[in-house]
Amino acid sequence: MKTLIKNIKEIVGLSDNQKLNIKKGKELNIIESIKDGWILIENNLIIDFGSMNNWKGIEDWNNLEIIDAENGTILPTWCDSHTHIVYAGSRENEFVDRINGLSYEEIAKRGGGILNSAKLLSKTNKKTLYKQSAKRIKEIIKNGTGAVEIKSGYGLNTKDEIKMLQIIKELKNDFPIPIKSTFLGAHAVPKDQSKEKYISSIINEMLPEIHKQKLADYIDVFCDKGFFNPEETERILEAGRKYGLQPKIHANELDFSGGIQTGVKMNALTVDHLEFTSTKEIEILKNSTTIPTLLPGTAFFLGLKYPPARQIIDSGLPIALATDFNPGSCPSGNMSLIMCLACVNMHLTPIEVINAATINGSYAMGLENKLGLIQRGKIANLIITKEIESINYIPYSMGKNNVNKVIINGKIYYDSETNY
Ligand code: NIG
Ligand code: FE
Repeated sequence: MKTLIKNIKEIVGLSDNQKLNIKKGKELNIIESIKDGWILIENNLIIDFGSMNNWKGIEDWNNLEIIDAENGTILPTWCDSHTHIVYAGSRENEFVDRINGLSYEEIAKRGGGILNSAKLLSKTNKKTLYKQSAKRIKEIIKNGTGAVEIKSGYGLNTKDEIKMLQIIKELKNDFPIPIKSTFLGAHAVPKDQSKEKYISSIINEMLPEIHKQKLADYIDVFCDKGFFNPEETERILEAGRKYGLQPKIHANELDFSGGIQTGVKMNALTVDHLEFTSTKEIEILKNSTTIPTLLPGTAFFLGLKYPPARQIIDSGLPIALATDFNPGSCPSGNMSLIMCLACVNMHLTPIEVINAATINGSYAMGLENKLGLIQRGKIANLIITKEIESINYIPYSMGKNNVNKVIINGKIYYDSETNY
């Protein structure tokens, strides 16, 4: 079955270069587009596209579905490569504690923060947890996200970590967008347990069971002040590597933790956060294939300083942008808001943030061969918007949902007119 998208004012974020799978340095500020376009889809894949000037016609109009873009702009869907979408309840009381002067670390030390979410998650049954998580996924797709990574890390014991990862597996089966699953047992140390004992349970209990049930694509560690140090991080990642799990790690959010160095040493796909990054760390990243992943929603919500994104890009490196959607440090999965924050607070251009949220986001979850660009052979996960005069409007409009239709696997998944 073929589908033709017609009447497109502009197709943005495309390429004929099949080798292009990441944008770095100056390339991040380049985006290709065509005016007055058409896109041809077969099954779930883009098979051709162009402008009406080189319209080749269609052989068989009978077996063709038509999607009318109504003179809207088409972009690839957002690739959100770092989230904690499977969580129970919310933590607005800690939000108020922070307004009243406590820091994120102080709240964590008192047994709040991640431990608070872990307590709530263990009391929440699987069905309820699934429902809460599925609702968040529906919401992010409505806002234009067409691929997402989800971490465990609110279990903090074998039973509940497995419960979280099994829910991610169900979500993978039930939703049509690609979902990647990351094991983040080393998110915090549970109360009343020594760190050594907990690390040993991650290595000797959790990892073998996760491997047996095929529950994870990646492994993550919160390598930061007050959580796990580089030596502990390395031990956990080494154990994960034995089961074929590549690292994607939380690094340098709260301090110069050595997390970036550890990530590069351990061949991490991504090092994420990076609020504390200096020239030294940037030099180390230059000799790696690890992509720095920035989460400006977290810096905003926790009132942290922002990562030096300009310096990172200007030294020739790539960056990906993601939401970090979680109950403590960024209770939002809105990629357009994240792009706005990146422009305003890290001085990125609208083109840079769109590339960081599409092609580079797909690289940051190992999906660069499938998504992130409008290209022949890529999955047809697309956004249609009639709301924008230029792409600058996307980050400018500060979190507004400009999406009119979301196409997933070549089919309309969400239509703002019918609200599904
Ligand atoms: O990415 N930094 C560690 N983990 C999450 C926050 C989790 C939480 O506070 O619940 C983050 O910011
Ligand atoms: Fe995170």
